[in-house]
Amino acid sequence: MLKVTNLTKSYGSLEVLKGISFEIKRGKVYGFLGQNGAGKTTTMNILTGLIDFNGGDIVYEDKDFKNDKRQILKKVGYLPQNPVFYGYMTGNEYLNFIGTLTNMSLPDIKKRTNELLEVVGLKDAGKRRLSGYSGGMKQRFGFAVSLFNKPELLFLDEPTSALDPEGRMEILDFINDLKNQGVTVFLSTHILNDIERVCDEVSIIKDGKIIVSAGLEELKNNYIQPIYDLEFENDCTKFKNILTNLNWVEDLQLNKNKLSVHVKNISLARSELLKLLVVESNPLMVFNLRKSTLEEIFLRLVNKDVLI
Ligand SMILES: Nc1ncnc2c1ncn2[C@@H]1O[C@H](COP(=O)(O)OP(=O)(O)OP(=O)(O)O)[C@@H](O)[C@H]1O
Ligand SMILES: [Mg+2]
Repeated sequence: MLKVTNLTKSYGSLEVLKGISFEIKRGKVYGFLGQNGAGKTTTMNILTGLIDFNGGDIVYEDKDFKNDKRQILKKVGYLPQNPVFYGYMTGNEYLNFIGTLTNMSLPDIKKRTNELLEVVGLKDAGKRRLSGYSGGMKQRFGFAVSLFNKPELLFLDEPTSALDPEGRMEILDFINDLKNQGVTVFLSTHILNDIERVCDEVSIIKDGKIIVSAGLEELKNNYIQPIYDLEFENDCTKFKNILTNLNWVEDLQLNKNKLSVHVKNISLARSELLKLLVVESNPLMVFNLRKSTLEEIFLRLVNKDVLI
């Protein structure tokens, strides 16, 4: 649906996007994952026509963004990271105002406004001023605004970051509903849980470069790592030191009596770890083998120069 090739963007001498490439497939929810300052908002602002880019190609269903930008943007919706509305307007008035920007007829604008307020659960609040909306209401209202033109492709820049767990769940359910209606979604976030709940595909962006692009399952399967969680009766710094620099250990995380051993080679770890534990004087209370979570996979990929 949307193909981005070698996209670059600089602010003065600061190179923010260093040639990123990815493809968004129709009907999928695409997760764009990265730490603060990685370049997520910049990418979204470019793809929604708000800012220019320096190099590379953006193609939307055989149309080149450089030549057909206006036509392409008619099919695109955007919920920015920090949406700003005119607080003195009511929800109704604001949506009507958005409608007048889309060249719709007045009856159609009114119909769409009511429809959208219903969808985002703000029907009663439509008569209230936007300045009086809570954070969660503002976020849901932002959705209504971004959906006004019935977009085929919706960009959501960290739509859940500012919300409490309940508000987040609401938004995630909403994204799933949109997907079921055939809307393609491009979602940036740094919340791994959200990615696991709604995304089909994921790209991880780091310092303006994409370091991994994969299906969610593929990402988990390829980058998953066995981790032993151990808990001792006493502080286990000494045991940690014994494991440091062993060739089957990739990483060690110590928290007083608890030690997580991230394993590079599971068959070696199985026999070697047990041998070491047998002769350890600090009594072992918990011994548990588990798979790394998506969060641990992400941190490992972002913080280490893992070869991909
Ligand atoms: N208008 C601007 N002028 C100069 N530098 C900018 C501008 N906008 C963004 N940057 C820089 O570009 C880099 C990427 O910023 P961007 O907002 O795209 O990151 P992000 O991944 O969205 O981060 P966050 O998770 O904090 O929202 C940062 O180093 C930022 O300081
Ligand atoms: Mg951002």
